[in-house]
This record gives sequence, C-alpha cells and structure tokens, in this order.
Amino acid sequence: MQNADPASPSTSKAENYRNLCNQLSELLKGELDFMANAANTAALIYRSVPDINWAGFYFRRDKDLVLGPFQGAPACTRIRIGNGVCGTAAATGETVIVEDVTKFEGHIVCDPASQSEIVVPLLNWGHLFGVLDLDSATLGRFDEDDQDGLEALMAIFLSAQKTDDLPDFDQLARQAEV
Ligand code: SME
Repeated sequence: MQNADPASPSTSKAENYRNLCNQLSELLKGELDFMANAANTAALIYRSVPDINWAGFYFRRDKDLVLGPFQGAPACTRIRIGNGVCGTAAATGETVIVEDVTKFEGHIVCDPASQSEIVVPLLNWGHLFGVLDLDSATLGRFDEDDQDGLEALMAIFLSAQKTDDLPDFDQLARQAEV
C-alpha cells in the first residue's frame, strides 16, 4: 500500500510521511518524558514505515552511541562515533543512506537479514545527541523521500521535548563510572 498511485510513487510516499508526522505529533502531545516519547516514536515508525526490520535510537554518551528504545531484533549496544553507519552519521551530522550494507566499509552487522539502512543524526542546537536508525531486508529500500520524511519526524520528536530536559547522557555516564 506504499504507492497508491503508481504514476506518482514519490508523492504517495511523501504523503505517507506527512500522515505519520501528524500521528507522531498527536502521540507525543502533552508528554515531556524523554524515554517514553523515544519508545513510542520507535514503535510508531516500526509499525508504520513499510518494509523495515529494525527501527530505533542510539544516544550519545561521550565518544560512543549507546542503544536506546527500539523495535526489532536485539542489537549491538555500543557503537564508537565514527564507526559503522550509525557512527558515520553521528560524526558527520548528516543523514546516511546505504543501499547495500555489504558495500559500506565498516558496516556493523546486528541482524544478518538487514540489507539496506538509513541513519538520521539528532542534533540539539547543533550538538550531536544521538541517531535514529532504520534497517530493511530489501536492497536499496531507502531514498531521499525517506530521508525527508524521517528528518521531519525527528524534528517533531525533538521539539516535543523541552530542550532543557533532554537527559545529560555524559553526566549519567560519569555517574555510572564512580
Ligand atoms: N548497522 C549499524 C549498527 C546498528 S544496527 O543496524 C541496529 C551500523 O553499521 O552502524
């Protein structure tokens, strides 16, 4: 059902993301708890974006990304910034689309079924906060329409939080080391 109008698949896909943006705004309305909103955002994306086998967050802690709320198979918990697809998006601050994960040097395999991937960095006033990661078992599953749609969803996700209330993961990591 992704493309109701085969003559304009791109419009249809963009329309799906617009609908999803409205649903996410409603879902997050009135709730400021960061982890609850992250969990619901991952669940909504997983159930609503077609042909994906993993959707979730990694959040920055010092030089690492650490697994956050997600839907799909259990995944690697810690990724060094700069490593893999997630770490590359985190290091550059740019969305990364990988058509074929076997051709991305340094790709980190969490689920061998995954064949393509998109990672959107989360920036809070220019500071890297984490990434959103989607995997698919279909080659070349993600394109610029997905990038636009997912970036719009992440803007809604971040604006639903009071930025002052975003968890200070660096501080949490320091406390854990004491
Ligand atoms: N493939 C990712 C690792 C995370 S999993 O796909 C959930 C990467 O290369 O960064």
